[in-house]
Amino acid sequence: MSRRTTRLGILLSGRGSNFAAIARAIAEGRLTGCEIAVVISNVADAGGLDLARQLGLPTAVFVSKGRNRAEHDADVTACLRAHGVDLVCLAGYMRLLSPEFVAAFPERILNIHPSLLPAFPGLDAQGQALEYGAKVAGCTVHFVDEHLDHGVIILQKVVPVLDSDNAHTLAERILAEEHQAYAEAIGRVVSGRYRVVGRRFVAA
Ligand code: GRF
Repeated sequence: MSRRTTRLGILLSGRGSNFAAIARAIAEGRLTGCEIAVVISNVADAGGLDLARQLGLPTAVFVSKGRNRAEHDADVTACLRAHGVDLVCLAGYMRLLSPEFVAAFPERILNIHPSLLPAFPGLDAQGQALEYGAKVAGCTVHFVDEHLDHGVIILQKVVPVLDSDNAHTLAERILAEEHQAYAEAIGRVVSGRYRVVGRRFVAA
């Protein structure tokens, strides 16, 4: 029996390079078993939306500025449902999710964060790592729970921090790994060949 294709819902607020990397991985056959059902942004002029339109993907905008979080999230959730989304991928989505949103997709929301969590959650993780004097940095793909940058870790990738780095060069090095990591992590989740044991994501 063949497994149904997993429908991804991408949420983004900015340039969308992680979304682009996911779309590329699907197009090139490196990420199988899934398709992008819709790209949603809370920012009307997010660069990632242009790319989605170029790729002929359905898009939707729900401007979040000044709106009540629960109401905004109810709109986004309804849109995801309308597009038959079964796995939500936050790709530079600069908005905290309401508990209702998280509960609507239990263990079905992924996020990518540019640090080796639990180090440096929150904004400017790359700058935080540099300032702190960390010798390695990286990225984390994790399930989203009700706490910021906190859910079960699916996959991490490590890069060195060089003496010559500034926040920009470090962010670029991490971003190159992010583009590999996100597609890889989605592939693992889509395969269904895993178990979550406590906080540990392990092969089933
Ligand atoms: C990435 O660094 C990601 O880790 C963070 O936001 C940034 C989004 O970049 N959550 P992009 O829009 O995917 O290029």
